[in-house]
Amino acid sequence: MSKRRTAILISGRGSNMASLIDAAKAPEYPADIALVLSNRPEAPGLATAKAQGIATAAVDHKIYAGREAFEASLQKMLQAHRIDFICLAGFMRMLTPAFVTHWEGRLINIHPSLLPSYKGLHTHERALADGVKIHGCSVHYVVAEMDAGPIIAQAAVSVLDDDTPDTLGKRVLEQEHVIYPLALRLAASGALKIDNMRVTGARGAPCAMVSPRV
Ligand code: GRF
Repeated sequence: MSKRRTAILISGRGSNMASLIDAAKAPEYPADIALVLSNRPEAPGLATAKAQGIATAAVDHKIYAGREAFEASLQKMLQAHRIDFICLAGFMRMLTPAFVTHWEGRLINIHPSLLPSYKGLHTHERALADGVKIHGCSVHYVVAEMDAGPIIAQAAVSVLDDDTPDTLGKRVLEQEHVIYPLALRLAASGALKIDNMRVTGARGAPCAMVSPRV
């Protein structure tokens, strides 16, 4: 089976991007990271990708009049690199329904909460403020509504008494780096089926992980 030509869209440091790049080095991995694209030219993740020999590009959202014009440029870039699968990894721009529909089933995202809890920003602060005992991260297909698409994989971590948003976020991030490569492997291999909100077909791969209590 030929590898899916995959773009990773970032806005910042790119630690999830790096975990995907690493995973894709395995010969049998079904995705090839063909492009890392940032809406912020200064995103540190671009340099990390470049150092790994990955093609990079910046499409600076600030120079476009609106979302449609920005996304038209994005599409051109994706087309030029013959991309057929997209991973959002800390990409901080809302995508239009038209873009999302175009990429439906080929566009996934990582979010630092156990969805459907804590959509949006500041997830670790909000989880601590609510006193939840279990927190975590999710990889999901992207739909027009933010953080609302079918879930592919999740990992849970315990919330500890002395956690701060930083310490909790760090433990969640470690799990993000585990589930994102797994989710891309499953999604790019064509094994998954989407039935409304349910994703099935992982063929025994552990799509729910619980990190040991520390
Ligand atoms: C991660 O926490 C991810 O879940 C969220 O944005 C953050 C990006 O971090 N969507 P990084 O750039 O991958 O290090």
